[in-house]
Formats: sequence, C-alpha cells, structure tokens
Amino acid sequence: MADYIKSLKTEISKYLKTDNIYFHNKGRVSLYVILKAMGVKEGDEVIIPAYTCVVVPNPIIYLGAKPVYIEIDKDSLCIDIKLLEKHITNKTKVIICQNTYGLSENVDSIVEIAKRHNLYTIEDCTHGFGGFYKNQPNGSYCDAAFYSMQWNKPFSSGIGGFMTISNNQLIKKINEIEKQKVKPSFKTKLNLKVLFFVKRYFLKNSTYWFLMNFYRWLSKNNLVTGSSSGNEISDIKIPKNFLMDYSQTQAKEGLRNIKKLPELLKLRKDNAIKYTDFLINNKKTHVKKDFFENHSFLKYPILVKDREKIFNLARKTKIELGDWFISPIHPVQNNFEKWEMYPEKYPNADFISKHVVNIPTDTKQVGKVLSFLEKYIDEIL
Ligand SMILES: Cc1ncc(COP(=O)(O)O)c(C=O)c1O
Repeated sequence: MADYIKSLKTEISKYLKTDNIYFHNKGRVSLYVILKAMGVKEGDEVIIPAYTCVVVPNPIIYLGAKPVYIEIDKDSLCIDIKLLEKHITNKTKVIICQNTYGLSENVDSIVEIAKRHNLYTIEDCTHGFGGFYKNQPNGSYCDAAFYSMQWNKPFSSGIGGFMTISNNQLIKKINEIEKQKVKPSFKTKLNLKVLFFVKRYFLKNSTYWFLMNFYRWLSKNNLVTGSSSGNEISDIKIPKNFLMDYSQTQAKEGLRNIKKLPELLKLRKDNAIKYTDFLINNKKTHVKKDFFENHSFLKYPILVKDREKIFNLARKTKIELGDWFISPIHPVQNNFEKWEMYPEKYPNADFISKHVVNIPTDTKQVGKVLSFLEKYIDEIL
C-alpha cells in the first residue's frame, strides 16, 4: 500500500525546509506533545495570546499548568510585544506566539526575549502554513511549531495536525511520547471518508450554511469526528484517546490538497489586496499593507457593528462568512473562568472578538463578496 504519510511529509518538508516532522490526529495534539516534551507540568505557566482557540489553553491545563494570556495588538492580532516581559515570572516555562488568520508579528523579538529568560518558544502555525516571517517560513524561529490540517486550514486533510522541532534537545523526549499514540479506529476513518465525499460533491455556495451548521451540530454532539468534541469546549478534562495518531486516510486527502496550495496562496493574497484597497477607499478598518509580505491570509478579518445582522444577511445572499474567533478563547461563550480567562482584562481581544467576521480569501467570486460589503458598508467599522 502506498505510504501517503511519507509522501505528505516530503511535500511539507519542501515548504518548511526540515525533516523533523511528526504527525498527529489534530494540531492540538501536536501542541500537547511539544509541551510535554518541554517538561511543562503542574505549577508552570505558559504564555499565550488572549485571542486564540480554546484548544490552545486546553493542553496547557491538561498538563496541570496555567495559561497566562497577553492582550493582543489591534493591528496584528498577535501578542502585544510591549506587554510580554511584564508577564514573565519565575514559573513561566514557554511562550506561544500565533499566526492569527495567517499573520505573524515580532516572532524574532519574542524568541529573543524568551532566550534572555531561558524559556522555550512555540509557534502556533495552525493558520500560517505557507506564509513567511522575514523571508523564513512560518514556524522557523521557535524551538517547535505546530500546524493544523483541519477542514478550512491552509491545506486540509479533513482533520489532522503536525509539528516541526527545531530544538534537537527535545527529540529524545518526543520520540518517547510518540510511542504512546493510539491509532484512529476504523469507525473514525470511515467517518472521515464520508465527510470527504460530502465536501467534494455537495459543499457549494448554496449549501455552505446548511452543511456547516449541520456538521457543527453533529460534531458538538459527538456524532461525527469533528474538529472539537463537545466536552473540549465545555470542560477542561483531557478527552479519551486524545494522544491520537494520524492515518493514511487523512494523509491521502492532505496530499491531494497540498498540491493545490501554491495556487491557493496566490488567490488568497490577490483577494486580500482587493479587500484592503476597498476598505481603505471606504476609510474602514483593514489589514495594514506593511503586513502583507508575511501574511498568508487564511481569512480576512473585518469588524462590523452588529455581527448577527451581517451573518443573517450573508446567509440570505449566500456569502460564506466565517465566524472565527468570536470569543477570546474561541468558541467558548461562557464559564471563561474555567480557562482562567477574564475577557474584560483584554479590551482589544474582547472588542475584536465581539465585532469580527472573516471574509473568505479562497473565493473565486471576490466581486460578489465586494458587492455585499459595498451594499452594507455602513455596518462596517
Ligand atoms: C489558533 C489555533 N490554534 C490551534 C488550533 C488547533 O488545530 P486543530 O483543530 O488541528 O487541533 C486551532 C484550530 O482551529 C486554531 O485556530
């Protein structure tokens, strides 16, 4: 049987210029493995942006450590570098920086600060595969980086994740942890195959909202192999069989999709330029042009006055709007204290998460999206 995982590794290594690549069932599992290999344990602190997905603080908490959030910069949506050193204590072990929507900022400065304090660094590249920071691929600067191949990530294998390790001192420990991975079951793989089929043949503009909501409902109720199981967003207990391996079924799909990536990266950037020009012309909040060089534009964030209203209009007009990150620890909407998150302490993250919608960058119908934005221009901040 063809070894799709090996072929996928070869393709990924062409982008990332490393062979130290390890696959897992999800990106969050890679993060867990990295943190464990770094020796994160009870009483430690791990610094993360206050604008992220809940599956980032989760593995920190699973290991008994405390997530320490840092307010984000309004323009880059990444950690506000000015606040970083104030949050470092003698319990801090790791700093995680994130390519939010594809954008990375101050990665080199974060690494420099971490080195000065003898801390590990991890880059969350789940949105940023294919993008660059100062001419080096995202994920090159830190001790380790992790990536996602979930449905709407830079390239998809349905669900899936991998990590790259630059700090060779971590390798021995990682190899030990890797031996504990459990294999995805036959049912899990079959489930994914059905979803690949539905996505390929039935997901269209006209069915997007219906299928998306249906999938989320199934996934929340643990009826399909979803991106997050219900209890990952309502609780902080490690799910059963969390340390799960990647499968050939996933890799086969990933391989199909990574081949389309160069074309997609170009489309995303071309569309992002059109959105930015449009927003500048209309004097609205936009992604600054200085960021364009680094950005892989997985999504394009815009801020609106009334998000529900815009979503309803988008549903009617059949525009595929995204609702990433509608909470500082997306998609959690209540009981934030379980994750030691207090949104009022992070006004930028809180405001943005209440007003953001993501417009698609991989669309061939950019004119339709721009007409929609133009029609409702007064709703955009
Ligand atoms: C910022 C961020 N980090 C980590 C992850 C986890 O990736 P995965 O779904 O592959 O576990 C996500 C997932 O959507 C994310 O948005």
